[in-house]
Amino acid sequence: MPYGPLPFALETERLTLQLWEESDADGYRRLVVERKRDHAERTGGLDGHVDEPMSLDEALADIRGARESAPARGIHLLTLHPRGSDEFLGYCGLVIGRSTIDEPELAYELLRSAHGHGYATEAAAAVVEAARATGRERLWATVGSWNAPSFRVLEKLGFRRDRTTIDDQAGEIVWTVLDLS
Ligand SMILES: CC(C)(COP(=O)(O)OP(=O)(O)OC[C@H]1O[C@@H](n2cnc3c(N)ncnc32)[C@H](O)[C@@H]1OP(=O)(O)O)[C@@H](O)C(=O)NCCC(=O)NCCS
Repeated sequence: MPYGPLPFALETERLTLQLWEESDADGYRRLVVERKRDHAERTGGLDGHVDEPMSLDEALADIRGARESAPARGIHLLTLHPRGSDEFLGYCGLVIGRSTIDEPELAYELLRSAHGHGYATEAAAAVVEAARATGRERLWATVGSWNAPSFRVLEKLGFRRDRTTIDDQAGEIVWTVLDLS
């Protein structure tokens, strides 16, 4: 079944969601370094030290790739900024991830400095409504079983736990699902 495209821009009460810009590269690079540091801390590796932080060039290459592939796929990640500001807070959107183009995954990731303000829930609620408007009937989110803040975001959005699988790299993964129809 053909689906409408996810929009390239959405607005919420406090946030602008938009397509990646090259000016997001430094914020995106910091997000990836924070993710690696979190993983290292959680798994007891390296005392939270990150051996290979992402370079600005690598971040720019990812951003150019995301901009190029978004129109053809019809689903994508959107960056989050406070309305009226170019400060990069993180991203939220739809990805195939472990699922399918028909029933994609909701994904979000925010800089540590932006946590705890309800931004992930606010952005994800807008993405869920936009996903519904594409004609899709179901969304998934797969979450590491340790990730209490992410489960809370999904709970607030109405997702329910479906099953648990074991991922070679990520460990125990909980599949959560939201029926849109
Ligand atoms: C998950 C994440 C996006 C949440 O972002 P956020 O903007 O802080 O989320 P919100 O403020 O909208 O909601 C977080 C909720 O989790 C709750 N929470 C935070 N830490 C918690 C914890 N340790 N245990 C239980 N609940 C927790 C908050 O209180 C809040 O719930 P409330 O509104 O009922 O008080 C953010 O922590 C993040 O980017 N983490 C790293 C990347 C990641 O894990 N992405 C998801 C992969 S599936």
